[in-house]
Amino acid sequence: MEKKKYLILTFGCQMNVHESEKLAGILEKNGYEVCTNATQADVVVFNTCAIRENAEQKIYGNIGELKNIKVAKPDMIIAVGGCMSQQNNYANEIMSKFPYVDIVFGTHNLADFEALLKKKIETGKRISSITEDETIALRDSLQIARTSGTNAWVNIMYGCNNFCTYCIVPYVRGREVSRPEKDILREVEALLKEGYKQITLLGQNVNSYRGKDEEGNEISFDKLLADIDKFDYKFRLRFMTSHPKDLSSEVIDVIAKSKHICHGIHLPIQCGSDKILASMNRKYTTEKYLKLIDEIKTKIPDVELTTDIIVGFPGETDEDFEGTLDIMRKVEYMQIFGFIYSKRKGTVAEKMADHIETKVKKDRLSRLLEVKNEIINRKTQEMLGKTYEVLVESFDEKTNTLYCSLDSGKTITVKGTKNCIGEFVDVKVTSVRKSVIYGEIVNTEDIANFKEKNFKYPIEVSILPKDQKGLKLLRENKKNQKAVNDLKSKK
Ligand code: SAH
Ligand code: SF4
Ligand code: F3S
Repeated sequence: MEKKKYLILTFGCQMNVHESEKLAGILEKNGYEVCTNATQADVVVFNTCAIRENAEQKIYGNIGELKNIKVAKPDMIIAVGGCMSQQNNYANEIMSKFPYVDIVFGTHNLADFEALLKKKIETGKRISSITEDETIALRDSLQIARTSGTNAWVNIMYGCNNFCTYCIVPYVRGREVSRPEKDILREVEALLKEGYKQITLLGQNVNSYRGKDEEGNEISFDKLLADIDKFDYKFRLRFMTSHPKDLSSEVIDVIAKSKHICHGIHLPIQCGSDKILASMNRKYTTEKYLKLIDEIKTKIPDVELTTDIIVGFPGETDEDFEGTLDIMRKVEYMQIFGFIYSKRKGTVAEKMADHIETKVKKDRLSRLLEVKNEIINRKTQEMLGKTYEVLVESFDEKTNTLYCSLDSGKTITVKGTKNCIGEFVDVKVTSVRKSVIYGEIVNTEDIANFKEKNFKYPIEVSILPKDQKGLKLLRENKKNQKAVNDLKSKK
């Protein structure tokens, strides 16, 4: 008998991408196999994000696009989970606005998805199930259908205690809970044995990791990093995200001495004005942040720094914004993710005075992008002629192109063969065009010995981390009227 099929559409951050791997694990355990088009799917799951308003609009648009298919295929089950549905007002809105959505669940009861699906199939009734209980042990015992190629995500903690005044995450992910160290070490070792080449530790604020070892002693983040670094495999260790208020000298020392930890650190500044930082409840000043950057650059001279910045937070003046541009120039980031402040219901900033006009926010973002491009273009030009050890992550058969990642996460494009995927190679940067970095492999004599490996990629299992891809997929379905008509005529 043909297997039933599933499709998962993922929005938001890496945490969500990884949780989609857990949802995929639940579905595969229940006999479903992945497909790439909603017209073939028996179950479609939306794993949603609530970080900014436009994330939500995209999700509503995508759910709306499924209506047509559901009419033609009434047995198809549509489920909506994740950060948006964790909020009761949204869960209710999804249930009433989209009567063809069958299951709504939140972030805390992800592990219940199996039971919810069975209940829906047995009773035929629509279910909305949101809990406040953090079922961390259950989440940790789930089978994971990994899809991230050479990289494997590993949760070290869940939740956030920081309550930055703009941010919805603490409300939809609950308080910080750290996994026991032995569980993390066991998972990492199994992944390395399986052949993964990069481990990315996940948490909203990894620096406040407080786990326990087997004797019940407290383990801090630097100790966890040092313990993972001891594994004797060829691999790269990454982590995200760091909060500047908690990044300790001990962690910097461990990175500087380590064999495996990437010399790439993502350290969100958010804003370059002390007044706004205080109003954001970030608990550091620009002076403290720059001191930290100095310490990092001194101890890890080849570090590649990246950051997140919000423009147009309530009360931000032109002068405050100039402060942000100033910090960008001083730190010289390798990558900057700039966001327009988005008002989130229930956060402290929502109620602040002096919300900034949309036009001003947009102008500031374009100015930020100009300065960002100046900095990054200069930094990439400086890379010309230098050689870097990079991880080969994927391959394009049509053009014989390999996509490799630097410590900063940036991509270098080189010509090569498929057997290089999952290998570390030395690449010399030969040209930079329109911010695309091109290079050539230097240690070509090694290539003949590389064996072909079989990593699973997001596209094959339709866990699409890029919102854009998710949107495109559903648009294609809409265009794909023939498939919908065929379904209708079969009915
Ligand atoms: N826990 C991580 C990441 C949180 S979300 C951290 O603290 O760094 C990722 C980024 O989204 C944040 O760093 C911030 O720059 C941005 N962000 C969060 N809430 C936002 C909002 N309401 N409007 C605009 N950007 C926001
Ligand atoms: Fe949000 Fe701040 Fe927590 Fe990051 S640290 S998730 S920005 S509240
Ligand atoms: Fe991530 Fe979005 Fe939730 S950024 S934690 S998926 S609100």
